[in-house]
Amino acid sequence: MYTVCSIIAYKGYRDAAPLIVKALSRMEYRGYDSVGIATAHNNSTIMVKKGVGNVGYVNSRLNLDRMHGRVGIGHTRWATHGVVSDINAHPHVSCDGRIAVVHNGIVENYAALKYALASEGHVFRSDTDSEVIAHLLEDAFTEPQSDEEEMLGKLVNVLNLLNGSYSFVALVSNGMLVGARYHEPLIIGLTNPSKDDGDDGGDDSILYADECFIASDVLAFIEYTDKAVFLADGEAFLVRYADASKQRVMVKIFDRNGNVTNKEITQIAWEFADVDKGRFAHYTLKEIHEQRYTIGKAFNASDDRLRELINVLINADRIIVTGSGSSYHAALIAKHLFSKLCMLACDAIVASEFIYSIDTYANNAGKPLLIAISQSGETADVLNAVRIARGKNFRIASIVNAPLSTLARESDIYLSINAGPEIGVAATKSFTAQMALLYRMSIEASRSNGMNPLTLDIGSSNIYVDKILGMEAYISDLAESIKNVNSIYIIAKGIHHVIALEGALKLKELAYVHAEGIHAGELKHGPLALIDGKSIVIALNPMDDTYSDVLASIHEAKARGACIIGVSDSRCNMYDFTLEIPRVDRLLYPLYEVIPLQLLAYHMALKRDCNPDYPRNIAKSVTVK
Ligand code: F6R
Repeated sequence: MYTVCSIIAYKGYRDAAPLIVKALSRMEYRGYDSVGIATAHNNSTIMVKKGVGNVGYVNSRLNLDRMHGRVGIGHTRWATHGVVSDINAHPHVSCDGRIAVVHNGIVENYAALKYALASEGHVFRSDTDSEVIAHLLEDAFTEPQSDEEEMLGKLVNVLNLLNGSYSFVALVSNGMLVGARYHEPLIIGLTNPSKDDGDDGGDDSILYADECFIASDVLAFIEYTDKAVFLADGEAFLVRYADASKQRVMVKIFDRNGNVTNKEITQIAWEFADVDKGRFAHYTLKEIHEQRYTIGKAFNASDDRLRELINVLINADRIIVTGSGSSYHAALIAKHLFSKLCMLACDAIVASEFIYSIDTYANNAGKPLLIAISQSGETADVLNAVRIARGKNFRIASIVNAPLSTLARESDIYLSINAGPEIGVAATKSFTAQMALLYRMSIEASRSNGMNPLTLDIGSSNIYVDKILGMEAYISDLAESIKNVNSIYIIAKGIHHVIALEGALKLKELAYVHAEGIHAGELKHGPLALIDGKSIVIALNPMDDTYSDVLASIHEAKARGACIIGVSDSRCNMYDFTLEIPRVDRLLYPLYEVIPLQLLAYHMALKRDCNPDYPRNIAKSVTVK
């Protein structure tokens, strides 16, 4: 059983529970099916409340936010295997009730550990892999008041028993928090931090603060502090009050050998705090509208890193671009732009398939380049591809929206799309921002490659996006009229086929409608058999060199009675509905074609009673393979 989950822990001078509930709601975009909290009050027994549902629902049922204690841990679970149940919700508690654990990731050897622990008399209450951590810590911390150094050593011993990926935090009944991270994110936020407690001769490697937050995402604590410490893979930590006055907390971070490490305190950009829906009904709609400026912002990225990456790009023997989902679609756009416009040998490989094709490229002489594209920078498939490529002598570059993410940290060089937090589970503004940055890279690469530099005017993107957003009422009506359709086929040619794939992905995940992106020329080679009077065919048909061929395919579909929705900058009597896009430089059409499809998917979701922000069964940040 493994999960994509959110973790938050708090120790400080405030009541932990209300703050934990709020943080969990902020991280709900990561996926959830059950929620739980544990707190410790006055160094006594640990209290746990947990149940199935979203944060708001479980809180209203169990009053999570009224639990007492200034130290606590919270968790939202998103099960990918195994049942969703109250018992399987985190936290999990040791037999003696002294230790509660929240965990994200998978303990791959949990069955063997569970068997050994059960033979020693440990009683397991859940079916999860995570529960073994609580029992292992129970054995390790036989005496929780014992010497801190001894606890660190014992925690390291427990970590050495765990195979797989994890980030976890354990609440010990004496009020301490301990935990670790390995291949799953965990970030420590500190209010008013310092590196010593004011005494001369303080130890620089120990951190002191008024409060300590430990979370899967900075969004969980950004409203309280912009100071954070990023744990490296394999690092562990211990948090306790600095002294008996309980005014400050003390944080010790140590490596997998038990040596205390001296960590930098990082300043996080405050723009991460922009996580309110504002006037919009949903984050997804807000983020679709934000494209009026996020496209320009990503395109205008101008820094030394861009120049450095272009230099690496034009000198690479071979370029592979990878990503998952929408970010893979951006990788396909990169392939079109780099190969066609910059004459650079480039391929796109979906991250989860990377391992099956990489040997062909790795056997080439010279230094190949991998460009990994990921909004979150935490997608396990992408990180896995990067680690494989690293082992094959690739140089690693990445394009991320989260510059503090694992992917950015593991890359030789990264560029940020600067799109601000994307909370809606479906990628919208991050996809167009990725494309905008790829356009910019193509311009710079063609210039540096001594070719005729491309000139693309993206300066008016806000006006063009506004024009498309102006069609929203029309698109909402269109969504109403086609809401009961079973399948939607999106046909396109050339680079536009990538947008057909992306539009189909949006329709599937937001509106739960079966949708397919099809090469227009392939319609007659099979899919046409599906087309009849009930079919909806969306044709991406801008006025470029693909226009007349796509029109031929439209005729084929129309002749079988399909309803045709044309996405185009020119009107045509073959269309039953027209989603008009602006007439722009022909290379830029993909950037604008996708926006009406995002709006259509969003409005179809509403008409079909689906929650567009949190589609069923999928999570925003997929940190498991
Ligand atoms: C689709 C979507 C997902 C992500 C994919 C990769 O709307 O959101 O397909 O694109 O999970 O996520 P990142 O870009 O964070 O690696």
